[in-house]
Amino acid sequence: MSIPRKGRFALLSAAAVSVVAAASIAVIGSAEAASTLGASAAQTGRYFGVATSAFKFSDTPYMTIVNREFNSLVAENDMKWDATEPQQGRFTFTNGDRLVSHAQAHGMTVRGHTLLWHAQQPSWAQGLSGAALRNAAINHVTQVATHFRGKIHSWDVVNEAFADGGSGARRDSNLQRTGNDWIEAAFRAARAADPGAKLCYNDYNTDGINAKSTGIYNMVRDFKARGVPIDCVGLQSHLGTTLDSTYQQNIQRFADLGVDVQITELDVQQGSNQANIFASVTRACLAVARCTGITVWGVRDSDSWRTGQNPLLFDAGGNKKAAYTAVLNALNAGGPTTPTSPTPSTSNPPVPAGCSARVTLNSWTGGYTATVRVTAGSSPVNGWSVGVTVPSGGAVTNAWNATNTSTSGPVTFRNVSYNGSVAAGGFTEFGFQGTGTGPTANPTCTAG
Ligand code: G3I
Repeated sequence: MSIPRKGRFALLSAAAVSVVAAASIAVIGSAEAASTLGASAAQTGRYFGVATSAFKFSDTPYMTIVNREFNSLVAENDMKWDATEPQQGRFTFTNGDRLVSHAQAHGMTVRGHTLLWHAQQPSWAQGLSGAALRNAAINHVTQVATHFRGKIHSWDVVNEAFADGGSGARRDSNLQRTGNDWIEAAFRAARAADPGAKLCYNDYNTDGINAKSTGIYNMVRDFKARGVPIDCVGLQSHLGTTLDSTYQQNIQRFADLGVDVQITELDVQQGSNQANIFASVTRACLAVARCTGITVWGVRDSDSWRTGQNPLLFDAGGNKKAAYTAVLNALNAGGPTTPTSPTPSTSNPPVPAGCSARVTLNSWTGGYTATVRVTAGSSPVNGWSVGVTVPSGGAVTNAWNATNTSTSGPVTFRNVSYNGSVAAGGFTEFGFQGTGTGPTANPTCTAG
């Protein structure tokens, strides 16, 4: 992090009010009360997750708690850029794969953290700029999201891209200097690579209505208006000794934009208010139907990145703290269930058989990323090809979820093994990256 830890909590505290101490918590009858965090959250359709690392999987007391309490995992570090692409174009997924395997074997979902961030970049990326960095970054998004395709509940596509303080503006970074559209380019590439994952923007010091969270709110509203694929906002919630009085209101305003909200990195500085703050955050999430899950940033106090602040739910000996009981009771008190996926509309007019394709471009000086949606007509499609004309002077440099044999002029993209079958009225997406100017003419689509 480029922001000193101390500074972050000071900023939070400045706009914060004290949480009322010793709030009493209503608990439903013990016959209905679940006895673990994950099981209790699941009663309202939510998850309760934890950040972990593959190197801790051999710690038996630690894993006993992980397996008992949580139904979602996120990699504290193992899926970051420096961990997954230590050398350009050479990917290492060993630790991320171990985390996913463990989660799958225990019926847990996985949050992906994080595809692009100004911090924890490999040194080769830190040395790039301009189109070279943009291409490398989008390729990173594509390769990593493709590798984990179908296994990730939600991706933090972009992490911490907004500045602290009162500006509500983007943070300066090497990624930001590639052009303001780098965030939407990343979201489009992630959608093309893994259409089933929810795509989140994640940040800290957003734990109430303030200039930074409003800057993010405006970006999400703009993305929704322009059709940039975004599904969720992550509020990290690294909290100090007070909680902003607008914490729930802030969750609600994002939900009202039509995105899910997830509490993604919750930890709270030890102090007399710790249990109350944990419980208040839990209640705030439960009160908003689109707040779909909570993740704590570590298991025991001794596992935390906030050394000495004892900000978690278990002490160093693995014992449940008062904060644990407060969270469990808040979860068991319930709240509205999370909404299920929208049912596709059946009122659309009939569409012809065959398929159609449409392309969305994210362009920058000297290059672009294209996302192509292939939509089946009134009959199922078994195999498809899409014809695109690449403007002269440019060429396709790589493609995902499709194959191509030529790279310039007229280029035909064909389905790969897993996306040739599209149900009637359904769609699949592929993408490609190119140099020069992106194709502007409508692509053709041929079924069969
Ligand atoms: O892997 C090396 C290890 O080989 C070496 O022995 C050890 C010596 O210190 O360092 C290890 O790497 C450390 C890594 O954590 C794994 O423990 C890095 O130095 C250290 O910088 C890294 O810190 C992580 C930090 O992100 C980096 O910015 C924290 O664990 C992790 O909790 C923290 O997580 C971030 C989220 O991703 C984003 N939001 C804020 C949050 C807290 O800063």
